[in-house]
Amino acid sequence: MVKLVAVILSVLSICPLAYSCAPSDRAALLAIKAALNEPYFGIFKSWTGPDCCKNWYGVSCDPEVHRVADINLRGESEDPIFEKAHRTGYMNGTISRAICRLNRLSSLTIADWKGISGTIPPCITSLPFLRIVDLIGNKLTGELPADIGRLSRLTVLNVADNQLTGRLPRSLTNLSSLMHLDLRNNLFRGTIPRNFGKLRMLSRALLSRNRLQGQIPNSISYIYRLSDLDLSLNRLSGTIPPSLGKMPVLATLNLDGNNISGTIPPTLLNSRIGTLNLSKNALEGNIPDTFGATSYFMVLDLSYNQLKGGIPKSILSATFIGHFDVSHNHLCGPIPVGSPFDHLEASSFVYNDCLCGKPLREC
Ligand SMILES: *[C@@H]1O[C@H](CO)[C@@H](O)[C@H](O)[C@H]1NC(C)=O
Ligand SMILES: *[C@@H]1O[C@H](CO)[C@@H](O)[C@H](O)[C@H]1NC(C)=O
Ligand SMILES: *[C@@H]1O[C@H](CO)[C@@H](O)[C@H](O)[C@H]1NC(C)=O
Ligand SMILES: *[C@@H]1O[C@H](CO)[C@@H](O)[C@H](O)[C@H]1NC(C)=O
Repeated sequence: MVKLVAVILSVLSICPLAYSCAPSDRAALLAIKAALNEPYFGIFKSWTGPDCCKNWYGVSCDPEVHRVADINLRGESEDPIFEKAHRTGYMNGTISRAICRLNRLSSLTIADWKGISGTIPPCITSLPFLRIVDLIGNKLTGELPADIGRLSRLTVLNVADNQLTGRLPRSLTNLSSLMHLDLRNNLFRGTIPRNFGKLRMLSRALLSRNRLQGQIPNSISYIYRLSDLDLSLNRLSGTIPPSLGKMPVLATLNLDGNNISGTIPPTLLNSRIGTLNLSKNALEGNIPDTFGATSYFMVLDLSYNQLKGGIPKSILSATFIGHFDVSHNHLCGPIPVGSPFDHLEASSFVYNDCLCGKPLREC
């Protein structure tokens, strides 16, 4: 008897039906396939047969519930099919709303296909297990779903390099698990929500190259884990919150190419920040004389502002200054001599009122 049970169990375990994907998942995938056109590799030729959990390119299932958990389609990857074809991927068509019928979906990556248009189906906010949404590098239009904040498990939202429009939804700051937000290079407008600091798990906030306006919210500095803040090339105005220089792990702060005014907060120059780009704004006043041993800059770019006064002496106490640029300001006086300044060229200092000394003309 025990033997018979064992035989039955082993037959069951090799029975292909036990591994097949749910028919509803299979139907949804076929609808997704029908809305897309991938002419060069034929990846969707593998999307055939009854078991969508087996050998369907870019599809994987949860081994316990046999439901589709991941869709991972990248147009630029190391996959051998790309090497064989000697080209990167291209797809056009749209992302079907049928995606929202995959209600165990945890990761949705349809990235770098360049030609996929249409909107992000708003119904994805009803997918309770969604953790990753990566749709970078397509031609998506329309807005982010207004109720995106419902995705309480979402850790990655990457929609960079598309043509998305509209304001950042108010519910965005309800994404309490979000760690990585990348909205770069779209057409988002309006302001950064004042309560942005509610995103307390965030480590990267990349909002560069949009049409965002208004002030940098103070609340950003409450995000304890934030290491990379890129707000460059927008239309932001107002002043730089001094609290940004007190953040525990902030390593990169790019605010270049906005319309930010006021003075440079002294805290920024003696902080954990190693890449600081404030170029092309409307900053005034002196460069604060607050460099110290913790100042370690791979990049310190203050060019194209209205800064005046001299280059502060304390800069010689910085541990490292790699790329340095104060060109196109109204600075005056002698350029400090000594490390970490020895390697710099004239282009770092040109177009000021009366800077002098090496590598410019003698004082
Ligand atoms: C999609 O790409 C194909 C080339 O593979 C092209 O013939 C077709 O016109 C494109 N469709 C759209 C809607 O752009
Ligand atoms: C954010 O979440 C809270 C609590 O769940 C809810 O009351 C609020 O309406 C949400 N905000 C938005 C804008 O969706
Ligand atoms: C700083 O920002 C400016 C303006 O966007 C850009 O041209 C420059 O290359 C950036 N500096 C560095 C070192 O990346
Ligand atoms: C920049 O901000 C100032 C106010 O600080 C405003 O007068 C000016 O019009 C703004 N410039 C642009 C190009 O938005």
